[in-house]
Order: sequence, then C-alpha cells, then structure tokens
Amino acid sequence: PLATTGELITSAATARSAVAAFNVITLEHVEAVIAGAESAGSPVVLQVSENAVKFRYGRLLPLARAAVAAAERAAVPVALHLDHIQSDDLLRQASDAGFSSVMYDAARLPYADNLAATKAAVDWAHAQGLWIEAELGRLGGKNGEPPLDAHAPGARTDPTEAHAFVTDSGVDALAVAIGSSHAMTTRTATLDHDLLKRLSATLDVPLVLHGSSGVPDAELAAAVAGGIAKVNVGTALNIAMTGAIRDFLAAHPEAVDSRKYLSVGREAMVDAVVRIVRVLRAAAAT
Ligand code: G3H
Ligand code: ZN
Repeated sequence: PLATTGELITSAATARSAVAAFNVITLEHVEAVIAGAESAGSPVVLQVSENAVKFRYGRLLPLARAAVAAAERAAVPVALHLDHIQSDDLLRQASDAGFSSVMYDAARLPYADNLAATKAAVDWAHAQGLWIEAELGRLGGKNGEPPLDAHAPGARTDPTEAHAFVTDSGVDALAVAIGSSHAMTTRTATLDHDLLKRLSATLDVPLVLHGSSGVPDAELAAAVAGGIAKVNVGTALNIAMTGAIRDFLAAHPEAVDSRKYLSVGREAMVDAVVRIVRVLRAAAAT
C-alpha cells in the first residue's frame, strides 16, 4: 500500500534501523524497487529527483501517477518522495502528484541563504502536511561535478551549525555530509563514523545518507548503527540495469524486442534492491 515517508522514517528511527530510498527514472525502476522490497519483505521509499523530472521532458505527473498506482498495489508499504528539489514550481506539485515528502536542496548556497530558502520551503511544506528533508554540507558528484574533497572545509556537516540549522529551519530530517559522494561507480567511500556519532548525539531529527551507492556494505551497516535512518541509493540501480543490458545486447546482437533487454535490466535492479535492503535490515538487527 501507499505509505508516507514520515511514518516509515519515524518507525525506522525508533527501531534504530533505516529505510532504503531508491531513485527511480523509468517505470522499470519503479517495478524493480517494489519487486525487490516485496521479495525482501521491507518497506521502501521511491524517490523522483528534479533531474529525473528533467529527463521526463520536465513532466512529473506521468511517472508519478505510475509510481502511485504501483505503490497502492504493493505488498509492502511504499512511500513517494521528491528528491533534490531546487525548483519551487516542482516543489508545489508534490502533494497533487501523490508525494508525502520532499528533499529541498539549497546546500549549494552559503549558510544564511540555505537557511532562509529552506525555512521558506519548510513552512510551505508543513502547511501542506508534507515531511521535508534538507541538506547541510556538500556531497558533490551531482550533475557530473567532481566529488568534493571530503576533508575540505565546509564539505562535511558541522554538528554545531547543523543543530542551529535544524532548530531554525524546522526540517523533519537532515541529509549529512560524512564522506559519501553522489554518483560513485565504485563502492569505496569511507565514512566519518566519529562525526556521525557527534551529529546524531547533537540532532534530534532522523539523519539521511546520500550517495549510498559508493558505500561498502560494512560502512552502510555501521552508518545505520550510528544513526542514519534513510539511505538514498540511485547509481547502484543504474549500474545494475545498464551492465545487464550491455551484456545482454552483446550476447544477442539480433535482439529488437525492447522487452527482452528491459526485463534483464529490471531483474538486475531487483537483485540490487534486495541486496541493499538486506544489508540495512541486518544492520538494524545487530
Ligand atoms: O538523493 C539521491 C542519492 O543521494 C543517490 O546517490 O546515486 O550516488 O547512490 P547515488
Ligand atoms: Zn542525493
């Protein structure tokens, strides 16, 4: 059934576990995430990023309608989340499109501007009954930009600043920069677990890990144990899908029916979803 992100994250945070949130681009992504979550028996968040909407000719509704229909028919709770939103116009489409939450992304701005823009977004979102996540610190790696030096000043989330940001903005959850980076194609990120410990001791909102595709299983498990309650994964699904399709087409150069290679790509995404969801569940059990 269709669930809300707020309820999934709250129960995960209470159980010191984490919900996996997967970025979906095509209907095959939507189907694979739900099939993987059903097979693992875990709730899941489907998230659509502003970049994914740009890919869909700027239109949110067609993919959103399909995602809502798929979520309603799912055997596990599935919530819909708008991810990395910079456009106010897109933000305002969230409720009508069936989303229960948004991630408002003003982390590229200087602190005071990020706070002011985020606070305005929070006030609007709460008036709509939406759960809202924001980001402090920089992860890098979005839109083809190189990953930031994770040790550069301002790259990591500072606990004192984060406490003021959460209090002054009223956000429901905070995406923290603790060493992961977006769009990594190798699982080689090292997280700063000491910083995560300080952040989770200082903040009383659930913490979100972005760029989780590049984080090894053991690091992911430690992040959940350290207080991460939402784990965002995008690139891992694309690596799985594209790799499987590339291999299939190389082996079957005569193939023309798109269902033949899309089903192979979709199954590879299902496997990736099951793997990640199981890592998170095992971490919560420890
Ligand atoms: O918000 C989306 C995530 O941070 C995805 O990052 O594509 O590196 O897994 P990723
Ligand atoms: Zn992200």
